[in-house]
Amino acid sequence: MNKEEQLQKLNTEMSACSKCALRCGASRVVAGSGSADAQIMFIGEAPGKKEDELGVPFVGAAGKFLDEMLASIKLKRQDIYIANVAKCRPPENRDPLPEEIKECWPWLEQQIQIIDPKIIITLGRHSLNRFHPEAKISQTHGVLFEKTFPNMGARYFYALYHPAAALYNGSMREVLKKDFAKIPLILKKIKKEQ
Ligand code: URA
Repeated sequence: MNKEEQLQKLNTEMSACSKCALRCGASRVVAGSGSADAQIMFIGEAPGKKEDELGVPFVGAAGKFLDEMLASIKLKRQDIYIANVAKCRPPENRDPLPEEIKECWPWLEQQIQIIDPKIIITLGRHSLNRFHPEAKISQTHGVLFEKTFPNMGARYFYALYHPAAALYNGSMREVLKKDFAKIPLILKKIKKEQ
């Protein structure tokens, strides 16, 4: 099976998931979208209302902002893969709970194993803290680091502020745009080292 077929099989399995209570209040499981061959994998927090309706991550206001930032570094959605640490919409758009993120982890782990991206870019603190529980986003954003995980090997990570948080905070928005602009150079550096 190629990567695309493996992801499709995983998505079918994921759509039948009812491991945590989030699935009861959600219309569907929002697995992820983009290229199975992506070098860059973005990982957000959880689907919102619009994502729950359409079954695609980051299609609301934060997604529009993300698309603009992708365009600024000459990337399109089809060039990357995007998923969330929680695949079902939490009620009232609350943050996903640690136990919900934990239940959802095997799905994300398999997505990463299949796609095998050169870099994982976390969006927001819930995504960052899933991989690095102690990290503070205010200190970690915009810095490349490497960490080894069982079943996933050594991985490069780059943390960004969440586009939804940055939308309504001018100074955070500028920091996010600056961090985003560094992505092509960082990817180049990783590829040179490999
Ligand atoms: N915010 C997220 O973290 N993920 C989405 O899919 C949408 C908004």
